[in-house]
Amino acid sequence: MPVLKVNVGPLELQNPVMPAAGTFGYGEEYAALIDLNKVGAIVTKGISLEPQQGNPSPRIWETCGGMLNSIGLHNVGLEIFVQEKLPFLRQYKAPIIVNFFGRTTDEYVEVADRLSTLEGIAALEANLSCPNIKEGGIHFGSNAQSVAKTTNLLIKSTELPVIIKLSSQVSNIKEIVMAAEGEGAHAITLINSVPAMAIDLDRMRPLLGGVTGGLSGPAIKPIALKTVWEAASAVKIPIIGAGGIRDYKDVLEFLLVGATAVQVGTANFTNPKTMLEIVEGLELFLKQRGINEIKEMIGGLEL
Ligand SMILES: Cc1cc2nc3c(=O)[nH]c(=O)nc-3n(C[C@H](O)[C@H](O)[C@H](O)COP(=O)(O)O)c2cc1C
Repeated sequence: MPVLKVNVGPLELQNPVMPAAGTFGYGEEYAALIDLNKVGAIVTKGISLEPQQGNPSPRIWETCGGMLNSIGLHNVGLEIFVQEKLPFLRQYKAPIIVNFFGRTTDEYVEVADRLSTLEGIAALEANLSCPNIKEGGIHFGSNAQSVAKTTNLLIKSTELPVIIKLSSQVSNIKEIVMAAEGEGAHAITLINSVPAMAIDLDRMRPLLGGVTGGLSGPAIKPIALKTVWEAASAVKIPIIGAGGIRDYKDVLEFLLVGATAVQVGTANFTNPKTMLEIVEGLELFLKQRGINEIKEMIGGLEL
């Protein structure tokens, strides 16, 4: 059989396929539907220092080619995650990547620091697409300076590998990923959902309770491919690609533009078996093409 193993920084993954944060909860609901030992890694829903209630409903709206969500980063908070969610996840052999966020750099640092001493966490994924309340609400990931500062503090606050998750909605993604790499980030995840909105014409109101939300699913795949491609040309650290992946062909496209691994988000909602079907599809594709290792596909795009 072809080898699907890839390395994301110090992490060795049995295959490059993992869930995208926030679309897989803390794994519990999916455990009844798929074998969690078969994914490359498990990425948790984003957690913050304190529990968060999130935005008013409706929080989800289906759009042409995707969906909008304005969950507002609703989560159980660090304490309950550690006591109730982490023990469940630890029973699986897939490495656990904990996605987290804060409203200030101090909050990011405190979460990273407290998670770093716990058993069973393989890496941290910092979601930098969150407003910095001390800087007038500007997103932590919006410019190279802020990304450098946050990455620097995170690297100092934990011994765990740090993955920096970024948005495509920036003026110069190359500068930003280089800033993260320069401060010691172990990997980059691209892309987060794309800011968007939908309107209820009858009521003349926004369709989402939170007014605006994040667009995800196939509609954003071309944006994600271009962003990953640009980022991969600027840094040596691995990139985890995300955005609209539904099948093994989508994954191969992300690998060709330079991603080392991928995350599957919205597609889990329509078919919870998507990730495992992708793994089977990748194996078959490589076998039929006589390719021994999936790593050979990474960055193989011909121009
Ligand atoms: C319902 C929902 C919740 C999400 N929650 C998070 C989150 O907590 N942290 C995060 O970094 N990204 C979050 N995301 C973004 C996804 O992880 C992913 O980056 C994005 O949806 C693109 O992938 P997709 O098109 O395969 O869904 C969320 C996305 C959705 C749809």
